[in-house]
Amino acid sequence: MDNVIMWLQIWGANTNVGKTVISTGIVSQLLKRVAHCLYLKPVQTGYPPDDDAAFVQRHCKQLWKDDDRGVDQRLSCKKLFVFEQPLSAEEAARRQGEQVSDQQVMQAIWKEWENRHESAIIIETAGGVLSPLPSGTSQADGYRSLRLPVVLIGDGALGGISTTMTCYESLLLRGYDVPIIATIDQGYPNWEAWKRTIHEKDTLIIPFPPLPPKDIPLFSDWYLKPQVQQAFQSIVEHGNTYFTKRSKKWEEMEQNAPKLFWWPFTQHGSTLHPVIVDSAFGDNYQVAQKKSKGTHSRPPFFVFKSNEDSSSWHLLDAFDGVASWWTQGVGHAHIQLNKSMMKAAGRYGHVIFPQVIHQPAYQLSKELIETVGYPWANRAYYSDDGSTAIEIAIKMALRLYSTRHGKSQQQQQLEVLSFFGSYHGDTLGAMDCCPKGDYNELQSPWFQPKGVFIEPPRIGMQNGRWILDILNGNNNWFPTDSIANQVHWDSWDEMADWQRVDSEIGNMYQQYINKVLDSSSTIATLIIEPLIQGAGGMRLIDPCFQRILIQEAKKRGIPVIFDEVFSGIWRLGVLSSTHLLGVYPDIAAYAKLLTGGLLPMAVTLTTEEVFDAFKVFLRNRANRLLIV
Ligand SMILES: Cc1ncc(COP(=O)(O)O)c(C=O)c1O
Repeated sequence: MDNVIMWLQIWGANTNVGKTVISTGIVSQLLKRVAHCLYLKPVQTGYPPDDDAAFVQRHCKQLWKDDDRGVDQRLSCKKLFVFEQPLSAEEAARRQGEQVSDQQVMQAIWKEWENRHESAIIIETAGGVLSPLPSGTSQADGYRSLRLPVVLIGDGALGGISTTMTCYESLLLRGYDVPIIATIDQGYPNWEAWKRTIHEKDTLIIPFPPLPPKDIPLFSDWYLKPQVQQAFQSIVEHGNTYFTKRSKKWEEMEQNAPKLFWWPFTQHGSTLHPVIVDSAFGDNYQVAQKKSKGTHSRPPFFVFKSNEDSSSWHLLDAFDGVASWWTQGVGHAHIQLNKSMMKAAGRYGHVIFPQVIHQPAYQLSKELIETVGYPWANRAYYSDDGSTAIEIAIKMALRLYSTRHGKSQQQQQLEVLSFFGSYHGDTLGAMDCCPKGDYNELQSPWFQPKGVFIEPPRIGMQNGRWILDILNGNNNWFPTDSIANQVHWDSWDEMADWQRVDSEIGNMYQQYINKVLDSSSTIATLIIEPLIQGAGGMRLIDPCFQRILIQEAKKRGIPVIFDEVFSGIWRLGVLSSTHLLGVYPDIAAYAKLLTGGLLPMAVTLTTEEVFDAFKVFLRNRANRLLIV
């Protein structure tokens, strides 16, 4: 077991439950198995005299006194931030006039690790699970980016069943693994209750015999009891099994997943190396990767280095550059979002929706209409993803068009007006709103673009200035490239200025748009991604062009759909791109950032006029916008 690199974090169900006593025993056991061990107390309050690092060092030295392998050289016990008052870290830091951010605590921990690549590392928290770090963030949240496996020291006193289970749940719901719960017997068999309640079969729940009286400064005799030695041995072995199982699972997933999955947006056929995401937090994925000897990743932690194999598994932070397909706005595993979701799940599970109302849905709808959909939307229709929200939007728009024009929907050929480069999703109806392209062309003959598609003028940036980028598009309708080449703006405000609608270029846009609208009698809906095409290549469309297009469509009674699945809810720095464009749709679809990626959920916002278009023939099921 010499090559095992083990990280464990010691948490307490409360202060004074024996975290340091048990940390000492674990460290002492680990020293039998690894060359070097590091004990860290990132935050120590009440110092001096309280000094947990010194306690661990002193007792391990005593326990190893007959061994000539020199514990002083093989064990480092360190505290990273100390505060004088024996209070919560936040209050102690405040009284001392010191500010320590969560990031500083994490960086200090990683710095210690960087200096010692071959250690087993034990990190002991301060107080209870939700006790604060100096910043005020609870430790459970503050240490979450590390997601170290937990040794929870349960409360052995009367009342300890509940405090321990509360801490256990708090850790579990934040995504921690809790492979070990240890406790010191205080005359109540609390651990029996935990065994009955905890369903995770792999959790080791282990009681230690009562401690000697407090006034004995060194209680080596207690550590040397066979029962105590046995318990510490079980903890370390269980920790080792936990790490081995974890890396075996990664090994298994790496080998089997390519045979099990049909991944979206992935070219199958060649050898695939799946990215194993072990967890995610903030802007990063924590990715498990097999590394060969000698290669390093930053910040790494080795999990298991087998003797036979020259490779080992590392966990490393990988920046999630695509924000999990643009669903992340506040980061992965955001605690406030998670808590709201947990509360709703605990309160409702799932509730059928026709004619049903519950408080979260009511509040969300009110807020959406008062903010994202302000001032134009009145109604919210929920569904489950961006493509579906678009399908619903199309159904709404076609009905509105037919109602406005006094025509029967069934007897006409209806089409959308949309842009080249647009993307509205991968269900067949959403695909039909897009021109042929990379995402859909192999889906023929089911896929049949039902639209008039035009090339919009795009905006680019060159040498720090906004330019009209028609050359990269295919604007063969644009009279002269030379005009476009003269057009540039020093600021966004200048480029997005409404006055441009009446400029020379604005007039050109107007003529072209009217020509397009005059040329087809089947255009029944305008569907656009306002301001920016996401999947189409992150291309900005000239807002002046979109404004004129929307105005002209509206003049002709053509309903306007904004596909804000990508751009909506703060993606562009505002709640809705309608607020940047200053023109309003009849219907708009939102998904992605609506739930921060936590749940597949979408909403289609619309007006009372659209809603009313479905109120005719009240007894007809087809009017209930049912089949979505
Ligand atoms: C503009 C736009 N519309 C619709 C969709 C489809 O959303 P979903 O993948 O949730 O079905 C996307 C997805 O990227 C999108 O960017």
